[in-house]
Amino acid sequence: MEKRVKPIAEGMNAKVIMSCDVTKENEVEAVFKECAKVYGNLDFVVHAVAFAPKEALMGRFVDTTKEAWDIAMGVSAYSLVTVSKYAEPVMNEGGSILALTYLGSVLSVPSYNVMGVAKAALESSMRFLAVDLGHKGIRVNCLSSGPVKTLASMGISGFSKMLKAAVLRAPLKKNVSLEDVGKAGLYLASDLSSGTTGEVIYCDCGCHSAYASAEEMDILSSAE
Ligand SMILES: NC(=O)c1ccc[n+]([C@@H]2O[C@H](COP(=O)([O-])OP(=O)(O)OC[C@H]3O[C@@H](n4cnc5c(N)ncnc54)[C@H](O)[C@@H]3O)[C@@H](O)[C@H]2O)c1
Repeated sequence: MEKRVKPIAEGMNAKVIMSCDVTKENEVEAVFKECAKVYGNLDFVVHAVAFAPKEALMGRFVDTTKEAWDIAMGVSAYSLVTVSKYAEPVMNEGGSILALTYLGSVLSVPSYNVMGVAKAALESSMRFLAVDLGHKGIRVNCLSSGPVKTLASMGISGFSKMLKAAVLRAPLKKNVSLEDVGKAGLYLASDLSSGTTGEVIYCDCGCHSAYASAEEMDILSSAE
């Protein structure tokens, strides 16, 4: 991905551009050491990493292999523990760590499968990390975004249906935009959220709060 990532990072004047596989502890450690050297102490860290083998993001959850489970958990959930461990020593008091999550952590969403289990582990880890890092004034939260078309999400079987289902159910009757998620991220990364830690903040146009839309109820009643 380097040839696509580098020009974007350079365009934003990034001073540190390094490869980092979050399953390799030494690479995570090296990134934080380099960031601290170049930038000094950090104010915030965004964990926006997830992966599961494609075949685990389709069909029946019961067919999830142990290998796919381990990969999804390692990359998508345990990595927050590794990142927090190496971020903590180089973060300022009042700093913020936030991790991206999805509603599939608390509800069974078709095809989300093992990633839902990984997101549940991510959110739970976030609460324990919030306690561990709280004494240093560092806050740890999750931002639960509605579905957005990205490289990772296109790996989920039937993702376009997830986008349509979210619009149907969301009180705001639309999908979240990148701007919506960015603004919620700004709230969590900055001291606008100085009193918030151990929390999952939803930015999904209200989708998580609705049991069913009026349209879904109409479909059911017309089928009676
Ligand atoms: N797109 C959505 O609909 C949606 C909704 C809710 C939450 N999220 C979450 O947002 C976060 C970002 O995902 P995205 O949808 O923007 O897709 P994305 O493809 O832009 O981001 C996923 C990133 O994970 C990185 N990654 C994968 N394996 C890695 C590894 N071993 N080490 C280091 N990096 C690795 C990829 O390089 C990629 O940059 C993820 O945690 C995802 O679950 C996405």
